[in-house]
Amino acid sequence: MDIQANSSQTIHTQFINMIIPQFSKPSKQTTAALALLLPVAVQGQSFTTNHTSQTSTGFAPCDSLIAANLSSIVHLPSSPLYSTLVAGSWAKDTQRAPWCFVTPCNTDEVSKTVVALKDAGNGAGDWHIAIRSGGHGGGSQNSIEQGVIVDLSRMNDTTFDAQTEVASVGSGARWGEVYAELEKFGVGVTGGREAIVGVGGLILGGGLSWYTAREGFACDNVVNFEVVLANGEIVNANATDNSDLFRALKGGSSNFGIVTKFDLKTFPADKLSIDQRTISSEHAGGLIDAIADFTDLDQTFHDNAMIAMMMYNPQQNATIITVKEINTMGKVNSTVFDAINRIPTLAPAKKQTVTLADSAKSAALEANTRNVGVGPLVIANDPQVMRYCVEQHEKLIEDLKKVLGPNEFATIQDFQPFPSYFADIGVQKGGNMLGLERSSRNKIMTISGVILLTPNSEKQYPQVYQRLSAMTESIKAFAKSVGSDEELIYLPYANPMQDAIGSYGPANVEHIRKVAEKFDPSGFFQHRVPGGFKISRVN
Ligand SMILES: Cc1cc2nc3c(=O)[nH]c(=O)nc-3n(C[C@H](O)[C@H](O)[C@H](O)COP(=O)(O)OP(=O)(O)OC[C@H]3O[C@@H](n4cnc5c(N)ncnc54)[C@H](O)[C@@H]3O)c2cc1C
Ligand SMILES: *[C@@H]1O[C@H](CO)[C@@H](O)[C@H](O)[C@H]1NC(C)=O
Ligand SMILES: *[C@@H]1O[C@H](CO)[C@@H](O)[C@H](O)[C@H]1NC(C)=O
Ligand SMILES: *[C@@H]1O[C@H](CO)[C@@H](O)[C@H](O)[C@H]1NC(C)=O
Ligand SMILES: *[C@@H]1O[C@H](CO)[C@@H](O)[C@H](O)[C@H]1NC(C)=O
Ligand SMILES: *[C@@H]1O[C@H](CO)[C@@H](O)[C@H](O)[C@H]1NC(C)=O
Repeated sequence: MDIQANSSQTIHTQFINMIIPQFSKPSKQTTAALALLLPVAVQGQSFTTNHTSQTSTGFAPCDSLIAANLSSIVHLPSSPLYSTLVAGSWAKDTQRAPWCFVTPCNTDEVSKTVVALKDAGNGAGDWHIAIRSGGHGGGSQNSIEQGVIVDLSRMNDTTFDAQTEVASVGSGARWGEVYAELEKFGVGVTGGREAIVGVGGLILGGGLSWYTAREGFACDNVVNFEVVLANGEIVNANATDNSDLFRALKGGSSNFGIVTKFDLKTFPADKLSIDQRTISSEHAGGLIDAIADFTDLDQTFHDNAMIAMMMYNPQQNATIITVKEINTMGKVNSTVFDAINRIPTLAPAKKQTVTLADSAKSAALEANTRNVGVGPLVIANDPQVMRYCVEQHEKLIEDLKKVLGPNEFATIQDFQPFPSYFADIGVQKGGNMLGLERSSRNKIMTISGVILLTPNSEKQYPQVYQRLSAMTESIKAFAKSVGSDEELIYLPYANPMQDAIGSYGPANVEHIRKVAEKFDPSGFFQHRVPGGFKISRVN
């Protein structure tokens, strides 16, 4: 099987996508897609003043925004920017066309926006609001048709205070631009692994970083959140002021207000050493044992990180495994990867030593695809369950080849180590909402998904979704049968049908409920902003 022949570009694409919840089309049109997406990536660039007309638009919330003197940041469907804004949600299946967008540039405008929307139409009417930072959340978390999308992408400033060693980052920034800005000061932060992913959604759900083994989740490194509450009030939440809200925001997502700014602890930035490998699926068993051993390492190895991904790619007619090994101190030949490195590769390993910004950029996006994902699954670090995952994935591929045809889809299944000390760091840094400390086992997160490649893929969606869902249920049942099931549903990758908040455990659910009631007594963020993970839907 001549996999190397046409695969260098494709394999690169695989690596690009290895940390995403639902992946992207492994096509040769990557560059074209990138070009198409550029206007989205350069968000905010040309958001010009438009509609100043005082006549009613017929849309109560849009009228209310205009009446609040926000017309310069309201974009109706007739706006030249409207289609670019629609495409600002990452996956095709999450792009929705609302009545209007509002694109606040500062905290004061967010406050005015919230007040105007709260008062719109006397609070009546069946319309809703979606809040969007980077737009990478799945389902209908960040977009809506019948109502207004609050797009925070213009709030993308990153500043650094050398005295306090704290970076202040706007919610609408992308991790790539955050890292590039902070690099000028020789510092880094605990954030996303891909440049184009948004700051807001990632931190508010936790935030897995290459540095998590050393620093904890992105949310554990927030020293202050600036938040606009439902009544328009602007507050800080930190360890001393509104400390209940501070803790709730570390994983509690969009239940309390709109976060406008995150103050983040920084650390001196070293280059990252990255080693990328491609491995034939016949070696999956050996690789799984090596991943399990890596996950069982203690925290003294915290400068190392890895991710492994199986992918069926129709161009290769095979399931290929890609592995990314990272050392965050720039050490090449870290011995922790020796077992993996003994596994034969399909092509020479690709080794680089790059800055955090470049590492994120080299894993930059492929958006605009129709992805089928049912969300992540966290299991104990148990090789027999991982092997079962791989078997089920192979079965799914064979099944989909018959149902859809071999060239109609690609798949992904990844494994991400989740050692128990991730939880300990969170506890040491003040505590987050994920509730990981309830289980002392080392864990693995696995995410499976299907990318539909053909134009009529919308019609294929339900049957693929059903099959993927059945596969995930079967893996869950197997994990349970061998006592390797775990409770956490990691929110940033979750499908909104999953009860991610409920998985945080009763004490944290209770905390989130109390804090939501205290800071949003009218339930504005529960009822008018229904997308995503809402405490009011948790039993
Ligand atoms: C290509 C790709 C790579 C990824 N890599 C990683 C990774 O390395 N590590 C990781 O942990 N996760 C990763 N994820 C998952 C990612 O963290 C989530 O998709 C997250 O939602 C992204 O944040 P966002 O701002 O782009 O999303 P959005 O969809 O804009 O927001 C997600 C949710 O948060 C809410 N929200 C956003 N901003 C605010 C705010 N300011 N105030 C209140 N609510 C808000 C939204 O309403 C929505 O419900 C990745 C996802 C993709 C698609
Ligand atoms: C904010 O976004 C704009 C538009 O994409 C971009 O030009 C600018 O560089 C970004 N700002 C920062 C600090 O990254
Ligand atoms: C309305 O907004 C514009 C900026 O768009 C500002 O210059 C003006 O002062 C505002 N008017 C009032 C009455 O707030
Ligand atoms: C915490 O909030 C208070 C009140 O707004 C503020 O004065 C203080 O500077 C904040 N602390 C941090 C660490 O940001
Ligand atoms: C794809 O691979 C399978 C075996 O894995 C083989 O049976 C089939 O003929 C191959 N298809 C093509 C088009 O090469
Ligand atoms: C790392 O290993 C490669 C061979 O695998 C070797 O060529 C290189 O010199 C090593 N680098 C260091 C710094 O040890």
